[in-house]
Amino acid sequence: MKKLWGGRFQKTPEKWVDEFGASIHFDKTLVKEDISGSLAHASMLKKCGILTEEEAEKIKEGLTSLLHKAEKNELDFSVDYEDIHLNIEKMLIDEIGPLGGKLHTARSRNDQVATDMHLYLKEHTEHILDLIAAFQGVLVEKAEEHVETILPGYTHLQRAQPISFAHHLLAYFWMLERDKERYRDSLKRINTSPLGCGALAGTTFPIDRGYSAELLGFDSIYENSLDGVSDRDFILEFLSASSILMMHLSRFSEEIILWCSQEFKFIELDDTYATGSSMMPQKKNPDMAELIRGKTGRVYGSLIGLLTIMKGLPLAYNKDLQEDKEGMFDTVKTVEGSLEIFAGMIKTMTVNQNMMKKATEQDFSNATELADYLAKKGMPFRDAHEVVGKLVYTCIEKGIYLSSLPFEEFQKASGLFEEDVYVVLDPHHAVEKRMSEGGTGFKKVKEALQKAKQKLNNF
Ligand code: ARG
Repeated sequence: MKKLWGGRFQKTPEKWVDEFGASIHFDKTLVKEDISGSLAHASMLKKCGILTEEEAEKIKEGLTSLLHKAEKNELDFSVDYEDIHLNIEKMLIDEIGPLGGKLHTARSRNDQVATDMHLYLKEHTEHILDLIAAFQGVLVEKAEEHVETILPGYTHLQRAQPISFAHHLLAYFWMLERDKERYRDSLKRINTSPLGCGALAGTTFPIDRGYSAELLGFDSIYENSLDGVSDRDFILEFLSASSILMMHLSRFSEEIILWCSQEFKFIELDDTYATGSSMMPQKKNPDMAELIRGKTGRVYGSLIGLLTIMKGLPLAYNKDLQEDKEGMFDTVKTVEGSLEIFAGMIKTMTVNQNMMKKATEQDFSNATELADYLAKKGMPFRDAHEVVGKLVYTCIEKGIYLSSLPFEEFQKASGLFEEDVYVVLDPHHAVEKRMSEGGTGFKKVKEALQKAKQKLNNF
């Protein structure tokens, strides 16, 4: 099979060399972007007088017809033409004749592939931003229903202090808000056009890079042609923002998995988001949360993979760069899928308020309240901590909790204790009083909900 670049060769590559070197089986994902890039390039060549009006129109007609076929999945890609760029060029030549060969004037596959990936990530980053916002909307909705639902807050996975369930959910809202900031920021770099950088050094043709950039919706162009064709920072930034997002989803997954266990029973997942066991009839497994936790690993893998590919590359393009694509495609699919599934899983889950509340009544997570009580009456906090620590120990010995400890015991421990101590020990009261900025007090949580909603509306 004669190659489109075959002029200086006497022989064609072995079949397995072709197959090993080809990227068409995955870069066909870029078909739409590749044709859009070519349409803009043809318009630019016409504007600059490099193609005649008639030539450009014929080329664009041919490309548009290929685009329609691509949309209907009617294009038959072949490994003989290695990648999406050469496949489309060959199809164009088949469609409109040798004139199709003029399209590649003043461009190289090196600036072409980079352009395709910029276009691809622009569209998907914008989509991911919408999916994150939709998920945040679900969190806000759930949080609104559960401002006064209290559950134990944990540190070291030991019960620490009671908190509002809405406050817990909103913690994820703010993580996701930072994720959006990272993706949005990366869009600035994604929105830069490498088209016209050529193979590495620019071109002798009088092209107008700003014009093709504008046609493609880019804000700016790469200032340096070597950088333009070999930069993959924008993909690394995408993978890095995605790794952090997936880490957040993975932490949340871990909590969901714990919460729906028999040990916690804080929530129940809807049947539509759970699966059964082939052997154990009683099982209802949180597979989706587990999968999202597991898939986080492959996103990290893609980030580390590309960082490793990049670290040894001399300027400018090297074939190693073909390895940048599969991790990127896989990450897009993983992140988009995970966000959609997570939103549905949270929206449909049932919150077991009684179990959460019961948990706060059967632990020592109100011990800080007691220490604060004494400190507010003038005892140095460190001493108050010691007094309460001893009371906790007394309770453990008696097999009871602080709220069941007889009043004499409190008085024995400190004369500062009065009968109102039992009010302070109520977990609901404990949450309500945490009114510092960013705290879990119900009023503060309501304010936070307003702020969160404002953020979503301004998006
Ligand atoms: N398939 C190649 C890639 O994905 C396109 C660029 C190839 N350029 C070249 N000079 N071999 O990186």
